[in-house]
Amino acid sequence: MIDSETKVVGIIGNPVRHSLSPIMHNKAFSHLGLNWVYLSFEVEPGRVRSAIEGARDLGMVGLNVTMPFKMEAVEWVDIKDGSVILTGSLNTLLFKDGKIMGFNTDGIGFLNSLREKGIPLQGRKVLLIGAGGAARAVAFVVAQQGVARLTVLNRTPQKAHRLAQELRSFKPETEVSTASYDLDLALVISDSDLIINATSVGMKDHPGIPIPTDDIDQRHVVYDLVYWPLRTELLKRSEERGARVVSGLEMLIHQGAESFRIWTGKEFPIPIVREELTEYLKSIEDNSK
Ligand code: ATR
Repeated sequence: MIDSETKVVGIIGNPVRHSLSPIMHNKAFSHLGLNWVYLSFEVEPGRVRSAIEGARDLGMVGLNVTMPFKMEAVEWVDIKDGSVILTGSLNTLLFKDGKIMGFNTDGIGFLNSLREKGIPLQGRKVLLIGAGGAARAVAFVVAQQGVARLTVLNRTPQKAHRLAQELRSFKPETEVSTASYDLDLALVISDSDLIINATSVGMKDHPGIPIPTDDIDQRHVVYDLVYWPLRTELLKRSEERGARVVSGLEMLIHQGAESFRIWTGKEFPIPIVREELTEYLKSIEDNSK
């Protein structure tokens, strides 16, 4: 029951109606019997600061911040977690003692999803496809994990070079290279252990496949950060070729788990949330056929 004691969190973005976060967090609140609610707010560009400060002044506990405000929101924060300083973007706010605290739980969410599945990073060769916001969140945490090599591949090569340069300055001991779509891709794929798609290619409204799968086999783990559809073309074909595959739903759940912990101090009921989201995504997939 919502009453005067109900604690309020939510998400700001534009558009925000497709966000799965309200489903995820409200399921967790009801499962744990917490008198909390998670709402979504479509905020107009130019209103981000007033939305954040208004949420703080209304006594909300915190917010998630999604596209296109993840970078801008950094400007309106009083205290930045290291994850925000590193990536220049945030996805979680906590209002505490009148202060606005900013966090980016995407990177730690990615790492925790691999840990949960027992997929190691240390000593592994990683191919990261993409150089946008999602790729950056993953790249900086991966570079810290003692990987044998991190290769960045991006449609616009200059962006891959720039990200690689930032990663080298951040972690000089990590070998960081770039690959290109036309030259050495087959070789790089064959010589990788973990392949991560951090581009938008494969999303429901952006169908396709970010790399050819001819050189993928049972030695590979293929992680697609895309979660809608649950099984992207990349995951389908990689699985057919014997690779172990991980859906972007896992990162989504684990970044949510970290935000949840920041707000409530409690553990996220991951299996319950996973089941809820999987069922929901399957139901909308069936309806969209
Ligand atoms: P996000 O914050 O979700 O990562 P983004 O910053 O716009 O979104 O980044 C999207 C990524 O998908 C970029 O790496 C983009 O490549 P460019 O840097 O060349 O734009 C990549 N991308 C989008 N469409 C693509 C396509 N059709 N083929 C290959 N890469 C694509």
